[in-house]
Amino acid sequence: MTIRATVQDAIACIEMARPERKNAITAAMYGQMADALAAAAADDAVRAIVLHGAPGIFTAGNDIQDFLERPPSSEDATTVRFMNALAAQEKPVIAAVNGAAVGIGTTLLMHCDLVYCADDAMFSMPFVSLGLCPEFGASLLVPLAAGYHKAAEKLLFGEPISAEEALDMGLVNRLLPPADVLAYALRQARRFRALPPGAVRETKRLLKAGWRSAVQGAMDRELEAFRQLLASAESREALSAFLERRKPDFSRAALAAADTTAPARPERPA
Ligand code: COA
Repeated sequence: MTIRATVQDAIACIEMARPERKNAITAAMYGQMADALAAAAADDAVRAIVLHGAPGIFTAGNDIQDFLERPPSSEDATTVRFMNALAAQEKPVIAAVNGAAVGIGTTLLMHCDLVYCADDAMFSMPFVSLGLCPEFGASLLVPLAAGYHKAAEKLLFGEPISAEEALDMGLVNRLLPPADVLAYALRQARRFRALPPGAVRETKRLLKAGWRSAVQGAMDRELEAFRQLLASAESREALSAFLERRKPDFSRAALAAADTTAPARPERPA
């Protein structure tokens, strides 16, 4: 079991439960989470959704091995289905973050309504060091929350973001002791049971309405750029370095060697 989806007392909980791989997300897990979001949206009894990981880890982002085997190369990819379902979700989504939230683990938080995290949580968007680029609206939503220069620093260098910094950047609502995060998120979720669901839905729609089409535009542009970069020598080198547990080499010579798309050099005449 890698995703646990439950509904209890009007709250749908989606749990990433693959701690032995630091909750790295596979294509199958994205599919399960997309289905769970759709089921929560369709169930009138559900008033809010809580997304969380295991006690010491939110998620290490895409499972790199699985990602290489099943790259998100079309609109039907489960990653795209999950992120679209999250971005379009009408009910409040609350994230409870313990441990690290890497890559898409940080990106997805931008689409949640409330984010509570442990005071020792860590966030990062290491797309550039993986030879990739921001995805699913991060190139718009991070500067919108934190300002251009802060976003540029974090997205260009992929620097880790501490919990305090995430609070300063407007990426999270509140820091809590690690053991209290999930309970607090669930308490906040339960508050929606006493609120009128139509007014909650309309308020969420209005809060996002101003930039919904801009976010969609960013997601489309990013997906296109992401796909191109995924086929590049840079990402091939970065992702194989991760799997081979070595430092990537982005020197000209190494990139030329990794570039299987480059035209073959003409043979020297004998
Ligand atoms: N994809 C596949 N496997 C992953 C993974 C990922 N994104 N992240 C971690 N794992 C695996 C590790 O390879 C390791 O496997 P092993 O037990 O066979 O050695 C196992 O999960 C435990 O990870 P480890 O790195 O030892 O845990 P840690 O507590 O020291 O560090 C992280 C946790 C999340 C900080 C670290 O694993 C990390 O940075 N992962 C890569 C994240 C990343 O680049 N994600 C972007 C994907 S696009």
